[in-house]
Amino acid sequence: MELRGRTVLVTGASKGLGAAVAVLLGREGCRVGVNYAGDAAGAARTVAAVEQAGGEALALQGDISREDDVARMVAALRERFGTVDMLVNNARIDPYKRPAEMGDAAWWNRTLEVNLTGAYLCAMAVWDGMVAQKWGRIVNVSSVWAYWGASFKMLPYAVAKAGMHALTRGLATEGAPHGVTANTVAPGLIITEAIGTRLSEEQIEEAKHGVPLGRGATPEEIAEAVVFALGSGFTTGAVIEINGGVRMGA
Ligand SMILES: NC(=O)c1ccc[n+]([C@@H]2O[C@H](COP(=O)([O-])OP(=O)(O)OC[C@H]3O[C@@H](n4cnc5c(N)ncnc54)[C@H](OP(=O)(O)O)[C@@H]3O)[C@@H](O)[C@H]2O)c1
Repeated sequence: MELRGRTVLVTGASKGLGAAVAVLLGREGCRVGVNYAGDAAGAARTVAAVEQAGGEALALQGDISREDDVARMVAALRERFGTVDMLVNNARIDPYKRPAEMGDAAWWNRTLEVNLTGAYLCAMAVWDGMVAQKWGRIVNVSSVWAYWGASFKMLPYAVAKAGMHALTRGLATEGAPHGVTANTVAPGLIITEAIGTRLSEEQIEEAKHGVPLGRGATPEEIAEAVVFALGSGFTTGAVIEINGGVRMGA
């Protein structure tokens, strides 16, 4: 793996999986752009943890669904570290946090805007730099919901995640002649610090029950798969499914 000294933008790195990815990349000696939407304290915690792990870090507030925000964040990262070599599209709107007053169209559009368009905009913003230097790595974080028949509640989220798989394949196709790889990491249940804010104890137990290995992943277990995909020069257009066995035979 040649990740030492590389600069990476990790979206949604104020908490959960994004924070774990940022810290693991810090341990690899990377320079990490820690994107967040509103949780500045969480982003500051991630920055401190990355630095403690041996990397460098820069907190970047910005809404990934806004092209101007994305351009500003990428410019700030380039100004501080020179290039942006890698991108982890991890940020998401939580399907469990739909505001009661939001109508179907607004919620559908907002979910796709952040969870899919945002990933595309971030990829486009770093693309030319990666192609010019003939080296780049992109990982899109999807979900088992990309495959499952979703309830109405999960439908916009599932559609956005399924779209990410097509996004990965397109980026992998376009990037291959230029040394740019793109892969999807599709996790199952992850036990993040914040999971209790979206699921009740009973719901968490029920979800664990449906996992052949009988538990959710730690964020670090999924982060390892993301770092593998970033480090492998011969993996592209792939989906790494890491879900405790929930899709065996499916
Ligand atoms: N948790 C699971 O069980 C699970 C399972 C399968 C797949 N996944 C996937 O794994 C990834 C991480 O999940 P998680 O549970 O760690 O997520 P999370 O705890 O909900 O954190 C989401 C992150 O995205 C950021 N964010 C939200 N809207 C944004 C926007 N418009 N622009 C920029 N950043 C924005 C948040 O920033 P603020 O904190 O500043 O708001 C936060 O850092 C997601 O792609 C998710 O779909 C999760």
